[in-house]
Amino acid sequence: MSVGPLEIFVVTAPGLEGLLEEEASDLTFDVVDRLPGGVTLAGGWPDVWRANLELRGATRVLVRVASFRAMHLAQLDKRSRKLPWAQWLRSDVPVRVEATCRKSRIYHAKAAAQRIEGAIEGAGMSLSKEAVVTIKARIEDDLATISLDSSGISLHKRGLKAEVNKAPMRETLASLFLKGAGLDSNVQVFDPMCGSGTFVLEAAEAAFGLQPGRVRSFAFEQFANFDREAFNALRRSPEVSGAVRFHGSDRDAGAIRMSEANASRAGLADVTQFRMAPIGDAGSPDGPPGIVITNPPYGGRIGKKGVLHGLYGAFGQVMRERFEGWRIAMVTSDAGLAKSTGLNWDAPGPIVDHGGTKIRLWQTQL
Ligand SMILES: C[S@@+](CC[C@H](N)C(=O)[O-])C[C@H]1O[C@@H](n2cnc3c(N)ncnc32)[C@H](O)[C@@H]1O
Repeated sequence: MSVGPLEIFVVTAPGLEGLLEEEASDLTFDVVDRLPGGVTLAGGWPDVWRANLELRGATRVLVRVASFRAMHLAQLDKRSRKLPWAQWLRSDVPVRVEATCRKSRIYHAKAAAQRIEGAIEGAGMSLSKEAVVTIKARIEDDLATISLDSSGISLHKRGLKAEVNKAPMRETLASLFLKGAGLDSNVQVFDPMCGSGTFVLEAAEAAFGLQPGRVRSFAFEQFANFDREAFNALRRSPEVSGAVRFHGSDRDAGAIRMSEANASRAGLADVTQFRMAPIGDAGSPDGPPGIVITNPPYGGRIGKKGVLHGLYGAFGQVMRERFEGWRIAMVTSDAGLAKSTGLNWDAPGPIVDHGGTKIRLWQTQL
């Protein structure tokens, strides 16, 4: 194990770093910096494991293990061979290396990766293109930064959703948009175009304190220094009970079926409710006003523009007529469509990259 705190870089979608920082602080991580694309934490290996297990907004968690100048490949090779690979990697678990180069004398990423692979093999580990354990090397301005990817498969894959509708919102983004919309553990949540139920389920999980990584596995479980007992001690099983406060509707029967299946798999069937209904039939759930959060179809992904303006108009009208006192939050890529709702939006949130589409969160209080 290393002495002193590790530099842990938690990756998120650009635009959502501020909300991730808030989440990390709420969960008592030691946040030391916010950078484009993520936040840096200081901590030990148990913090790395907990970040993977608990941070809903994290796409992946990288552990920066080395940083050195590398002006040419031979230097990269030599410095890489000095790293204590056996401290982190196991000889029986294959590894792969991904490298990127920017504004550096070493400009050939594949050649850079090969040098690091050579060093890893020299330390007694094997390589495989399909390996789950990945070493990431970034060479920027002649500075090489070597990180261990502690997550493996992207953390938006919670391991719970077998069913996804077309154009699903990534869980990581949905959770941070919910945070941006002011989700707290007592509020009611409703998504009237819920698709496979991502917002509703993320809201319910967060409210009950369920750990997003509770059923999936992580790359760090195959690291040399992994301590399963210590990791298991970080797991929590909070009780999920009480009134139904998390609601979704959608005009598509398949979407409702998927949402219900996903809710059952997540252990949330008793506190969630899904109903097949077009937007015109959406009514506010009983109980105190809460948050409506939704991402209606937007151009480029599904649907056509003219029809979409009508749909957004109908959404806005239903909100104004039946959701007095609710906070309305909507994610879309298109300011024109947001305007078509006729809602009096606050200034929209930062632009967020969602698989190439630029989306943002629009909010208003009715
Ligand atoms: C972009 S998807 C939402 C994805 C969802 N957030 C998820 O993560 O799966 C938009 C959803 O709006 C629904 N929809 C489109 N027009 C609708 C309407 N008029 N009334 C209700 N739902 C509608 C679609 O069936 C689709 O599931």
